[in-house]
Amino acid sequence: MSTIFIFAVILVTTAVATAYLYMKYVFLHWKRRGVPFLEPTFPFGNFKDMILQRLSLSDMVTTLYNKSSDALVGVYVTVHPSLIVRDPKLLRDILIKDFQHFTYRGANIMEDVDPMTNNLMMQNGEKWKDNRSKMTPAFSTGKLKGMIGVILNCAQPLSKYMEQYTQTGETIEMREVLARFSVSVLAAVAFGININPIENPDEEFRYFGRKFFALTPRNMLRLNLTFIYPKLVKLLRLRFADKDVCDFITSTVKQNLDYRVKMNDLERTDFFQILMKIRNDQSGKSIMSVDEMSAHALIFFVAGFESAAATMSYCMYEMSRKPEIQRRAQQEIDAVLKQYDGKLTYESIAEMKYVDRCVDETLRLHPAFGTIARECTKDYKIADTNIVIQKGTSLIVPIAAIHRDGKYYEQPDEFIPERFDDKATANKTFLDMPYLPFGDGPRICIGLRLAKLEAKVGIICMLKDYSFELGPQHINKELKSYPTSIAKFAVGGINLKVKSRFNNFA
Ligand code: HEM
Repeated sequence: MSTIFIFAVILVTTAVATAYLYMKYVFLHWKRRGVPFLEPTFPFGNFKDMILQRLSLSDMVTTLYNKSSDALVGVYVTVHPSLIVRDPKLLRDILIKDFQHFTYRGANIMEDVDPMTNNLMMQNGEKWKDNRSKMTPAFSTGKLKGMIGVILNCAQPLSKYMEQYTQTGETIEMREVLARFSVSVLAAVAFGININPIENPDEEFRYFGRKFFALTPRNMLRLNLTFIYPKLVKLLRLRFADKDVCDFITSTVKQNLDYRVKMNDLERTDFFQILMKIRNDQSGKSIMSVDEMSAHALIFFVAGFESAAATMSYCMYEMSRKPEIQRRAQQEIDAVLKQYDGKLTYESIAEMKYVDRCVDETLRLHPAFGTIARECTKDYKIADTNIVIQKGTSLIVPIAAIHRDGKYYEQPDEFIPERFDDKATANKTFLDMPYLPFGDGPRICIGLRLAKLEAKVGIICMLKDYSFELGPQHINKELKSYPTSIAKFAVGGINLKVKSRFNNFA
């Protein structure tokens, strides 16, 4: 054996042994602090199945949640210690009551690597607070009422698209078509741009949206680690979005800005107009760069379109599995439309309460984002314990796991919209029925009401004219999620058969 070979063996063995001993030491983190923990293994900590891309982040966290019964449980994302918050009371304190200790989401702003990280989702402190309060009015009831016509317009091609499939009898992949609908809604309400990706699937917004969420291992690392292991993202200098996606959004923002300034087109009420207002302070001085405007525009676009498409497509899937629920929703739609001369309006849509329940129940069973993150920003002593969560600690909120915990929901894996009826929830609090598909507290999803309205419009426009059945791909098969996706994505898509309600279907 050559000396070089022996030297190499010694070097590798020493490196592995040092890494092992270092991890052994790090893996005592939660034990030293008296926090209940799940036993980690070398070298992936507790996240082996996620890192090896066998489980999605949401399914990984659900598996860990189900292994514990403690209010708070320590885990390791490789060497990075994190806490899974299991108890609804503690969760409520962290997200709402004691929010000032947990104001960060944990993600890093790295403007030098990717200016798109300087967005509302990733900003912190005063900057976030100020922007959040200025952007919130974009989603007021008045603004939503103003958007309804635009959303209904975007839904028109949806109905036309369904019609073709009633003739051929082929199944429709619902996730894709609803993502196209959702992209058109966001382009319209955020940028004031009218597009029709349902008829033109290669339209640029759809193309770059698809690229952002492409199910590649690199995307999986980039998107998942941004929130659960931000230090590694910083170390590896991973971009939040590919350069061409960023360039597309930035050039759209620049063009829009130039056009509106040149044409003095300043009376619009969309989200872009709010960004333009924030851009200049009262003295007219520019206080938000075009890069920052683009970063906010990107996050509104990507946070909004896949999540709404996931919600609509899973809702249609569940209604196809349970035709009696689909029928009840259709009966409600028919009855309300009759009262309103067949017109879909903000008011008539608001009266369709059962459809609301169906959307709520979909978001319980299939929350688009199965986990959210927080970072402790000020040491926090948990009431009635000796545990102190130290500044800098990462926390994971296991939304999907809590939503399917039999302790809070009877028959947790069943789609039962009635569990959200006013009567059924009358005496229940968050502690009895923890529900947080949009997160909670001051950092709750800013687009919540728009998302629910859009999902309702999409579902109503489909169910009013068509009925849906499961495609043969789904008969007696469980839906599985892609392990590489941050938003919930069914493997093979959601394939449904569609029939016209008024021609050949009862
Ligand atoms: C069904 C659709 C949607 C779901 C399930 C969803 C879910 C979420 C969740 C879980 C969070 C994290 C909340 C937290 O940490 O407490 C979030 C944040 C956010 N969402 Fe949504 N979202 C949806 C649609 C939208 C839409 C349509 C928009 C924009 C038009 C949007 C924009 C945002 C933004 C900007 C944040 C960060 C807010 C902040 O940190 O202040 N989302 N969303």
